[in-house]
Amino acid sequence: MKTEFIAIKDAMRQGAGTVHLRGWCYRARGSNALRFIVLRDATDIIQCVVEKALVDESSWTDAQKTDIEASIEVVGEIAEDKRAPTGFEVKVKSLKLVGESVGWPIQKDQSTELLADMKHLWLRSRYTTAILKIRSTVFGAIHEYFRGAGFYEYQSPIFQATQAEGGSTLFSVNYFGNPVYLAQTWQLYAEPAIFSLEKIYTIAPSFRAEKSKTSRHLTEYWHAEMEVAWATFKDIQDYGEALIKFVVKRVLELHQEELKILERDTKILEKVAHEPFIRMTYDEALQELKEKHETDLEWGEDLRTIEEDILSKAHGHFTIVTNYPKKVKAFYMKEDEKNPEVVHGCDFIAPEGYGEIIGGSERESDLEKIKERLIAQDEDPERYTFYLDTRKYGSVPHGGFGMGVERLISWICHLETIKDAIPFPRTMLRVTP
Ligand code: 4AD
Ligand code: MG
Repeated sequence: MKTEFIAIKDAMRQGAGTVHLRGWCYRARGSNALRFIVLRDATDIIQCVVEKALVDESSWTDAQKTDIEASIEVVGEIAEDKRAPTGFEVKVKSLKLVGESVGWPIQKDQSTELLADMKHLWLRSRYTTAILKIRSTVFGAIHEYFRGAGFYEYQSPIFQATQAEGGSTLFSVNYFGNPVYLAQTWQLYAEPAIFSLEKIYTIAPSFRAEKSKTSRHLTEYWHAEMEVAWATFKDIQDYGEALIKFVVKRVLELHQEELKILERDTKILEKVAHEPFIRMTYDEALQELKEKHETDLEWGEDLRTIEEDILSKAHGHFTIVTNYPKKVKAFYMKEDEKNPEVVHGCDFIAPEGYGEIIGGSERESDLEKIKERLIAQDEDPERYTFYLDTRKYGSVPHGGFGMGVERLISWICHLETIKDAIPFPRTMLRVTP
């Protein structure tokens, strides 16, 4: 679409001469003869000065009606000005009010609850805009990484007749009179496809009926998942590490400005992008917790938030914990040949106390073992025939992982809550706006 309007960033690059800009009023102040309007568009903000004596009457009337978040078009002369918020100022020659904004409801230092109620408007804040830009890059980088590594993008159903990650977090939907569940993971429908495409990935919503009110749990989140034929357990961990490094590098390359707006210290991002992740077994984690952090966890208990946070903060880096006790992990994870009490499952624990960002595993290939474990969970193996068939016809070693995209964004941006990592968060307590 051809237009005379240019983005604020491009105008500042141009640096001099006449520019046509449009956007929203970020803030405004003034007197009877002069009005300062800071204009905002998707790219940046810029100060515009309207002098009554230098513009026609309609421009002046519109300028006076330009309040916070009103939309306007301006034509003016741009010049460098060290005192202006972004180093440039536009002397306005004409201004047109496009959409009035009367009584903008968000003021400074508002409570998080009010901001959450106003999320549809709060999206325009520089804070949220910075996060949304990084979010866009994160999604793009995930696609770029997987496609670059020879993966096919593949889609699985959201309505599913069986569970995969435990019954307690299932959302049930009335499906023409019968219950079905919203996807917790693509996995059971991804594994059959590796026999066709071998290396596949997706980014799709997953749903978990999480009753926990934490800074890490959403009921609807975006899940980046991958599945690979012929993969070893180590391959799965290597892919996960490479993916996170790739995404973090992209964000560092493209978003220095946004990271500054978010006051994010980038040293740790640099470290994650360039230094090998720490890898340890569950047994080693338990030992470290006991010896270095006076935390005793009984063998067989899952690492809780509190233990993950101790390791995370002590390591200051991503830690991949492997070989968990079988009884705390999903039915499809492969039993260790040397120790049937543990499985080839791994969790990637982020630094700075952001918890598990990736969960993955090598998959069990023994049909009978999967059946046993389903039965142990009170599941009827009959209902999993479509899945079990993958082990009947040309089974191969394989594995995969799932990454919580909002968890990753939350850590990259160092957010206080995961709710800020998604435009309209859904949690146990909130489905609006
Ligand atoms: O560890 P999870 O449950 O693993 C799976 O779903 C596997 N089937 C994935 C696979 O192997 N294909 O979930 C994977 C990741 C977690 O590590 C976490 O980052 C994220 O999904 N996650 C959530 N993110 C936000 N809110 C929630 N309630 C989440 N539950 C899991
Ligand atoms: Mg997990």
